[in-house]
Amino acid sequence: MSRRQPYDAISALFTGKVALVTGAGQGIGQATAVRLAREGAAVGVLDRNERTAEATSGAIQKMGGRSRALVADVADAAAVSRAVERLYAEFGRIDVLVNNAGFDRPGGFLKLEPDDFQAVWSVHLLGAVNCCKACGSIMMDQQDGRIINVSSIYGRVGSKGESPYCAAKAGLIGLTKSLAREWGARGIRVNAVLPGLTDTPTIQEFMLPKYRDMIVRETPLGRSADPAEIAAAITFLASDDASFITGATLEVTGGWSL
Ligand SMILES: NC(=O)c1ccc[n+]([C@@H]2O[C@H](COP(=O)([O-])OP(=O)(O)OC[C@H]3O[C@@H](n4cnc5c(N)ncnc54)[C@H](O)[C@@H]3O)[C@@H](O)[C@H]2O)c1
Repeated sequence: MSRRQPYDAISALFTGKVALVTGAGQGIGQATAVRLAREGAAVGVLDRNERTAEATSGAIQKMGGRSRALVADVADAAAVSRAVERLYAEFGRIDVLVNNAGFDRPGGFLKLEPDDFQAVWSVHLLGAVNCCKACGSIMMDQQDGRIINVSSIYGRVGSKGESPYCAAKAGLIGLTKSLAREWGARGIRVNAVLPGLTDTPTIQEFMLPKYRDMIVRETPLGRSADPAEIAAAITFLASDDASFITGATLEVTGGWSL
């Protein structure tokens, strides 16, 4: 659970709304699910890890919120479809979709096999496609929907030794802009958040301290993000305060990307 918890009470910003957050078992997805629930949304906590999905959902219910743990691999279109049907059957609408699930498979370009690229793209990119397809028609019927794709600043600037990841994140930006154009007239806004270095369990476990310190040194704000700070940007884009924003890429990097 993230260090900062800016809201203690369930408030009204998303009352009556239903959100689906993928990769919500930990990190940015978990912080986003909790934040949306604190703002009054009922939240589908989707993750391929049943234990962490249940834990996030349990934490939301403990604080008085409404949630449902959904176990699915986003790369599996049929499993995503079943999860979305379950959420819709329980709560009767889906207003917000946050495509956040992802993982990295680093390596030098020539050492990576086509399967490595496929594995990363099938989660980040096809996973988002599967979720957008499953939620899109529901949002069109409602004439209202807000989709936030969690890309990365690396999707804009690239990174050495992470070409599958960076290509996927760049693809997610293209998907965001295309769907924003295609679905705007149907009342659906589609935006992307591009986080910089964010202190999540995966980063804490796998990133070399030397590399992490270098990024922090290059960041004008002089630190990494707390997952709650990325969740705040996602929540803003999902809210009515962003009612005239679509197709946008919001960089949340502490200035690293200037
Ligand atoms: N942490 C960062 O510094 C950072 C920076 C930029 C972008 N991002 C992006 O933000 C998102 C979240 O990052 P994080 O650091 O919180 O990640 P994380 O690894 O801490 O958590 C990712 C979650 O997604 C789940 N997941 C992974 N593959 C899945 C699949 N196929 N189906 C369903 N669930 C799946 C995992 O079980 C896990 O709970 C990712 O898309 C990541 O690329 C993170």
